[in-house]
Amino acid sequence: MHVELGCRQKGVHSHTITEIYVILKGHCEGYDGNGDLHHAGPMDCIYIPVGVPHAVRNSGTEELELLWIHDGVEKKGLSTYYYSEEETPKVGGVQVVKFADVEPDWSSPKASQAPYLHWLVSFVAGGKKEYVNFNPRNAIINSNIAMGLLCIYPGNKQLPHALPGTQCYVVMKGEGLLTEKGKKGGRMQALTGAWVKGGVVHAIRNLGTEPLWVMWMHERLIKREAIKYEEE
Ligand SMILES: [Fe+2]
Repeated sequence: MHVELGCRQKGVHSHTITEIYVILKGHCEGYDGNGDLHHAGPMDCIYIPVGVPHAVRNSGTEELELLWIHDGVEKKGLSTYYYSEEETPKVGGVQVVKFADVEPDWSSPKASQAPYLHWLVSFVAGGKKEYVNFNPRNAIINSNIAMGLLCIYPGNKQLPHALPGTQCYVVMKGEGLLTEKGKKGGRMQALTGAWVKGGVVHAIRNLGTEPLWVMWMHERLIKREAIKYEEE
């Protein structure tokens, strides 16, 4: 989503699924049905539960760009729009996970050794202990999906791995190469998205001179030991 400098979304609206934003660029002020305000900037995550009226305005000094994902598929016509305070349900509950409050997780195999230098964080994770959660301190609990950020250092890559379910990647900043085992790699740059099917061994390499920032999402919750790593 793109919001021009000085602009805002009209009214507020709510969904029948959970909506999650990650800020790519700029700053926003968000509001809910109670009129409570929240603020987010680059790499911060905003979590909007089912049924909570919400909208944002650009509160920064440049364009506002954010990625949004849903924890399910919302059928057309099920979003509800409200254009006056009287008709807006008085419901709040928007949560923000600030990037600055999240500690990087370096515990993936070889992640702290060149040429595999990378770390992960979770913004949203399953509640049970066995589920993947790279941020037990303040990840938001959701029973459908897990998502967060991946940062790969220049000249480094992930250890090839496979998940039991489909995974989605969207590049936020930098340039990378996503390779599925036995196939020619695909180049990725800002806003390139990729789906990797369950069971497919794959890895992302940073091709650029800056850190590569990627948003990741698992279509369903998985256990940590279900991620299978392959030595090269
Ligand atoms: Fe929305």
